[in-house]
Amino acid sequence: MIFKIKITFTNLIKVLLINYLRNLNFIIMKLPNVGTSIFPVMTALANKHGAINLAQGFPGFGANSNLLDLVSKHITEGKNQYAPLLGLLSLREKLAEKISDLYGFEYNPENEICITAGATQAIYTSISAIIYEGDEVIIIEPAYDCYEPAVVLNMGVPIRSQLKQCDYSIDWEDVKGKVSERTKMIVVNSPQNPSGTVWNSSDIQSLKSIVLNTNIVILSDEVYEHITYDGKRHESICRYPELAERSFTIYSFGKTYHVTGWRMGYVCAPKELMDKFVNCHQFQVYAVNTPFQYAISDFTDNKDAYLELNQFFQDKRDFFLDCLKGSRFQPKKCSGTYFQLLDYSNITNEDDKDFANRLTIDYGIASIPISGFFHNKRQDQVLRFCFAKNNDELEKGAECLHKL
Ligand SMILES: Cc1ncc(COP(=O)(O)O)c(C=O)c1O
Repeated sequence: MIFKIKITFTNLIKVLLINYLRNLNFIIMKLPNVGTSIFPVMTALANKHGAINLAQGFPGFGANSNLLDLVSKHITEGKNQYAPLLGLLSLREKLAEKISDLYGFEYNPENEICITAGATQAIYTSISAIIYEGDEVIIIEPAYDCYEPAVVLNMGVPIRSQLKQCDYSIDWEDVKGKVSERTKMIVVNSPQNPSGTVWNSSDIQSLKSIVLNTNIVILSDEVYEHITYDGKRHESICRYPELAERSFTIYSFGKTYHVTGWRMGYVCAPKELMDKFVNCHQFQVYAVNTPFQYAISDFTDNKDAYLELNQFFQDKRDFFLDCLKGSRFQPKKCSGTYFQLLDYSNITNEDDKDFANRLTIDYGIASIPISGFFHNKRQDQVLRFCFAKNNDELEKGAECLHKL
């Protein structure tokens, strides 16, 4: 058999260059432009200098003891073998019911909900399931750091739109201008990390006007669904059937039950999208750990555990803001998530990374410089502080900030 191989000049140069680098034992990273994520970096710096860590977004308090007991019970009772591919049916049934009660959308628990290893895996797998080489994915910055690498690893092209600097609202005209015939997906996130903004109905209208009558898929990261403040409701995509029908909606048990280390989350999508998701999921994790699914399934009956979260975290936000009164930091409006942005432009015009390092080393308080959430390292002179911590830690953290 004769194969005809068409080799262009550029491809030939590429192949020769790659072989040359391999021969020299070069390590070619798939993600050459990302170093270690800023979260562990700031946590390591906080540990090294004994600083209060308001950097990484994990709760500084334990989970509900009933939930912990349920895990021990199911492990002891021997629920330790593979779970079904999409997760325990009993858990998926409860989640379908929860979404129907809260947002009114009906997912079929048999084939439209999948339990994942945290929201992070749900995000990666959704992207890997539908993005092919050259497909464009619109990402709204400052963005949570796992979206863009997932797009790049799957040979997609990230197209960024930036939130307005004044109030971190979405510049919908800009988003609209970035849509092209190659746009395959838009990633949205409300309540938004790191800005703490929460969508209102006009955001939903703008999104609808962009995607309806196109084939664009929405990836809606809703991991902070239960953390909104001052009476603001969470505008889940699942409240809007015409959007839900083209969306992956993604949630995190880690965020809801203060167990980020368990790496548990879930994704919901109409069957056609979910089939594509499962096609990849089965070879990425196969199925998520079994006893924790049993425990969460039992615990989901306790509705207060998630319905009381708004008030719980609102009290924490208000406590932290009270402690900061009189300091030179200016708080930005935080309507959701457990992150407070503080503007430091009254204090210095230093780069946010340098200032965050200096705060950690010299003043004993670690935060996240938000330039790390922008591909072009936009400097807003703003740092992110996580207030999902015990009050004494928040108080001590605020004392450090008063020293500037
Ligand atoms: C916006 C956002 N999405 C996704 C995640 C990841 O969630 P998980 O820990 O469940 O993977 C986080 C975690 O901080 C987040 O802030």
